[in-house]
This record gives sequence, structure tokens and C-alpha cells, in this order.
Amino acid sequence: SIERTLSIVKPDAVAKNVIGEIYSRFEKAGLSIVAAKMKHLTQEEAEGFYAEHKERPFFADLVAFMTSGPVVVQVLEGEGAILKNRDLMGATNPKEAAAGTIRADFADSIDANAVHGSDSAASAEREVAYFFNDNEICPRG
Ligand code: CMP
Repeated sequence: SIERTLSIVKPDAVAKNVIGEIYSRFEKAGLSIVAAKMKHLTQEEAEGFYAEHKERPFFADLVAFMTSGPVVVQVLEGEGAILKNRDLMGATNPKEAAAGTIRADFADSIDANAVHGSDSAASAEREVAYFFNDNEICPRG
């Protein structure tokens, strides 16, 4: 079915100037960008976005990294978009990411891992709404 998922190009990938290369991977895989914005997350925005991880030992480093520079946040739409995006990204830890995935090609570490993508339908719904109002999403049909 046609799904929407929330994707973030993280500060490391923005700094490497590979926003376009990452967008190309989405588009070549049949995903459409139906909403997008660049922004420098505040501490509160990053903490709220990653609230489910707040008890994890890496939470402070994750928030510090995600606020270290601008990110690009987008909604991807297409057939099976949630899993398709996760397949394109590869494993969270780039050392474990399959060849040809975004993280294998552009990520440096588990923290600076180039992209985020929603991990389930429930997360996608929450995460899309966290960054975008309905009237900011432009469905492609
Ligand atoms: P992301 O998909 O954005 O979701 C949470 C992020 O925490 C994850 O990508 C990683 O960049 C980061 N992280 C750091 N350490 C870990 C870990 N041990 N397990 C999972 N995520 C981690």
C-alpha cells in the first residue's frame, strides 16, 4: 500500500554536501518527496523527537549530535515507503550496513549515521506530524 514515512538527512550528511545524492536514492527507488524543510533543531525539538530513547545511555550524545548543525527533514511517499526507506538506509551502525546502502556509503559512525527513518507505521505517523502540518504535505497521487 502507499505509505508515508519521515526521513531526516542528519548534520553529518548535510556537512558533507550529499543532500542531493541521498534524495536521488529515494527518487530512484520510487519514493516521492512530498514535504521538505531544512532546519537547525533546538535541544527541545531533538529531545521531543527522540523521546522514546530518553532512558538510553546514548540519548545525550544523540541530542547533542542532532543539534550540532542543520538537518533536512522530509516526508517520503510511495509503495511500502516505511520498509523501502529502511532498506535504502541500511543498518543503524554503518559498520553493519550492507554495501550500496546510504549508511554504508555516507555514514561514519552509529551517531553520525547520515539519515533517520521511521521504523514502523505508528512511528511514521507520529514523526511526520512532529515536523509537518497536513497543509505542508503535497501528495503526488
Ligand atoms: P536513528 O535512526 O536516528 O535513531 C536513534 C539514533 O540513536 C540512531 O539512529 C543512532 O544514530 C543513535 N544511536 C547511538 N547509539 C545507538 C545504539 N547503541 N543503538 C541505537 N541507536 C544508537
